[in-house]
Amino acid sequence: MRSAYVFLLAFLSYTLALTQDQIFQNDWQTVNIGVPFASVHTDQRIFTLSELGIFSIINATTGGILYRYQSEISPIRPTSGLVEVSNKQIISFINYEEDSSRNIKSKLFLWGLLKSYGVIEKELDFTSNIVAVLLKDDHIYVVDERHILDIDIKSDYEITTLYKSEHPIVDARIFYSALDKSIYAAFEIGSKVFFSTLSNFVPIHFDGCRIKRMRFHNSLENLMICNDSDVYAFDSFGYRKLKSGRNMINEKLSAESLSADPIKGFEVVKDHILIESENEITLFNHEYLSLSADAKSFLSYPLSDSIHHSFHVSKNSTEINLLVVSPNNVVDYYRNGELLWSNDQSFVDIKDFVVVGSELKSSLTVDELIFEKSSNILLSYFRRIRHNYQSLFGKLDSTLDEAHRFGMSKYLIALSENGKIGVFSMYKNENNTPQLEKIFTPQIQFTHLYKIDRKIYALHDASIYEVDIKLGQITKKSETFVSSNFKILQNQDSKAEFVQTDAREFYTVSVSTSSNSIQGHFWNDKQLDSWNFSPKDENILSLAKRSYGNVDVAQNAIVLPDRSSLYKYLIPNVGVLTTHKEGEASDSIVFYLINLITGQVYGRLEKEVNKSINTNHDVHVTFEENFIVFTVPDKSSFIDTQICSIDLFEVLKPDKKLSGKSAVISAFDEPILPMFASQCFLLPGTSVRGLSISRTRHNIATKDIILLTNMGRVVAFPKMIVDGRRNGIIGGFKNFNSVESSVILLDDAKVSPFPQRISSSKYASSIASKFAYDPIISVNPQAVLTHHRKLVVNNLSGSTFLFTEPTELESTTYVVSIDGDIFVTFLRPSSSFDRLTSSFNSKVVIATIVVLLIGIASVRPKIQRNKILGRWAL
Ligand SMILES: *[C@@H]1O[C@H](CO)[C@@H](O)[C@H](O)[C@H]1NC(C)=O
Ligand SMILES: *[C@@H]1O[C@H](CO)[C@@H](O)[C@H](O)[C@H]1NC(C)=O
Ligand SMILES: *[C@@H]1O[C@H](CO)[C@@H](O)[C@H](O)[C@H]1NC(C)=O
Ligand SMILES: *[C@@H]1O[C@H](CO)[C@@H](O)[C@H](O)[C@H]1NC(C)=O
Ligand SMILES: *[C@@H]1O[C@H](CO)[C@@H](O)[C@H](O)[C@H]1NC(C)=O
Repeated sequence: MRSAYVFLLAFLSYTLALTQDQIFQNDWQTVNIGVPFASVHTDQRIFTLSELGIFSIINATTGGILYRYQSEISPIRPTSGLVEVSNKQIISFINYEEDSSRNIKSKLFLWGLLKSYGVIEKELDFTSNIVAVLLKDDHIYVVDERHILDIDIKSDYEITTLYKSEHPIVDARIFYSALDKSIYAAFEIGSKVFFSTLSNFVPIHFDGCRIKRMRFHNSLENLMICNDSDVYAFDSFGYRKLKSGRNMINEKLSAESLSADPIKGFEVVKDHILIESENEITLFNHEYLSLSADAKSFLSYPLSDSIHHSFHVSKNSTEINLLVVSPNNVVDYYRNGELLWSNDQSFVDIKDFVVVGSELKSSLTVDELIFEKSSNILLSYFRRIRHNYQSLFGKLDSTLDEAHRFGMSKYLIALSENGKIGVFSMYKNENNTPQLEKIFTPQIQFTHLYKIDRKIYALHDASIYEVDIKLGQITKKSETFVSSNFKILQNQDSKAEFVQTDAREFYTVSVSTSSNSIQGHFWNDKQLDSWNFSPKDENILSLAKRSYGNVDVAQNAIVLPDRSSLYKYLIPNVGVLTTHKEGEASDSIVFYLINLITGQVYGRLEKEVNKSINTNHDVHVTFEENFIVFTVPDKSSFIDTQICSIDLFEVLKPDKKLSGKSAVISAFDEPILPMFASQCFLLPGTSVRGLSISRTRHNIATKDIILLTNMGRVVAFPKMIVDGRRNGIIGGFKNFNSVESSVILLDDAKVSPFPQRISSSKYASSIASKFAYDPIISVNPQAVLTHHRKLVVNNLSGSTFLFTEPTELESTTYVVSIDGDIFVTFLRPSSSFDRLTSSFNSKVVIATIVVLLIGIASVRPKIQRNKILGRWAL
């Protein structure tokens, strides 16, 4: 008995050591900061600001991003900036264009830096452009387009207007003079420059040069130096010219006198002078001028070629730190000429991508079972027991790791706007190795990426190249390869368009924005234009096609509560054309259900929207299986979004199927027109940037709707929530080609008489969803796939993509969001029915089995006894 306990304990402690389910930690993202146009340093940290409105704090030694913050407003103008202050505080200010009025407004942030992350101590709004900022002794001095302001931090940010200008101030500098302990501002109105002290404001006209060419300097006097050549001394009463020369550092010294080599330029950084010559930067201290340099740094290319650069000299004057942003968007950081780290920001702007699986074949238990079938049954049985034992105790042969086994080992290949190709491993392994495997820059600019049989191809002009992601090489493909995998379509804009098809496909479709039409093509050796559809007085926005065919639809009917079924409308080759129609009081988004082979229009549905909708990025449509899901901004409030579903059925009568009669459905037969049920829901306080539907390998797992929001979050919730049968409107496209109706609105159904509520349908009781209608979708925190993270939003130039990529596990699919950041995670719409998760506690299960066995063993004699007594009827 005792040995049994010992055995049990050993057994339990062994089961405790089972590792946690890795999949739950398997999400990752890039931490992009954008291409910086402003930066300041301290000895340990670097602060940057980029056009995407991202303020970031970087560890100077390692290049690690310690903190980043994207302001809600982006993009921001490059006149925004950072003001160096101290180890404790820094000021960032952003100028931005207001959406509707195109007025320039600005914000100023005072950051506290005592923690490793940034803390916004104060955020101030201004109604015009900020031109210059200075922080001195708890006062923030701000020059905006019309004012010079003094903001007192100590007395609750009280604002005093020092100067008010009739005309816009186009440029300004503020300068603290240690000599007369006062603050000067120089500003430019029209093309005239004035300067004054701030304590006693009397503008003095200065005709030396424009502000852009001016530099302040403190030496024995207050100096204004124009174009590094004319040196003026000034005080609150006036100015006078002291000297003219070349590359003047101050009234006495010129940079030329410090360097034996011809100089390209110089920079004054606090008490230091940095002189750039042919390929070297030399540092001099300006107080104890000696002719020997304190430090030197070599340059690999001239600074004038960079997008942005900034210097920092360490406190003890021994290090020249240089941050350079190269023309191909790489941030490099040098210390005394040695490259400490670099960070490529090219993948903030991505124009195309593909996903490829690893070359190792995945192996699932199913495959193993098939393998076993062929051998001896007894042998198979023992092999199975061994296999189960090994997988339970984690001793499985690890030649195929989990990622390969379940087809999770995949690569995301991204093509950046500036033509680089990045290879990211999608599966995050335990070792936390970086996801970015490689970046390379092909010699030619590609416009698209394609995938054919696990290989990657790229398009340049009219040629296809194979891209070897391991070696980073490209090779041009032959004509025959191109013609067997692509069709070169002459579209209506007379541009050649590459369409990836396989040889058996005869029909393609193209959308032309210039002629506002959609055209069908038939391929028979060459392109024949077969049909054309151009909606009158409406602008084509997009064409949505299903991403998978009928073969991949797992269930072709919905099972109703009374166990009858409602057949989905799965007629192939149907697409959804979305257009925008302008109306008097409000606009409409129109959806056409269109046969992509014959061009027949099966139906037309309308959704009313607010007139000021931005159709370029506010309307998102997807079409999958038998439903069209779309999002539009709410008609009366732009911060809310409506998400609607149009579910298509063959007939609304349960158990009736029209397409069942014919074995083969042809696009040229008399079409089967769908019936629909549609309903809208409200997502309060959310604006949508991307919309996608989850897809798994066999599409057995339920469908989730995935959204990328303006706040940089990825959210997923079941499609079941957004369902037309939740008290929606139903209708049918009976009169072929002439049907018009409105999709139900959230508010009163001001729709044409013909559509009816589900409740008024004669099949109401059976087809209505038992899930009661609630117009508001409140996103529960578990539905937020990004958890606490905030992804960077990019609406400068790159594209936004949101998609799912199935794995071999039916329950599990990758979700990838590409915007300013790349974010990858796993989604399990039906939770993991094919795999034990971390919530599965093998310890408890084993303990339960043991307790049950003990129970059986202890109860058994008693039962035996009862049985015997029972026989004797005692
Ligand atoms: C920067 O990284 C180094 C090495 O990891 C670390 O020792 C240092 O404390 C970091 N500095 C800051 C400011 O976080
Ligand atoms: C500034 O000085 C450089 C030489 O140092 C000269 O080539 C350039 O023309 C000057 N620019 C102006 C606006 O005076
Ligand atoms: C100067 O300061 C840097 C850090 O800021 C340090 O690494 C270096 O050793 C210092 N050099 C001297 C000579 O003190
Ligand atoms: C459109 O939106 C604006 C606010 O953005 C609102 O004031 C207006 O009433 C809306 N129009 C309609 C027809 O609801
Ligand atoms: C950029 O994105 C913000 C937030 O996502 C949005 O409010 C704004 O309208 C967008 N601007 C442009 C020009 O796309």
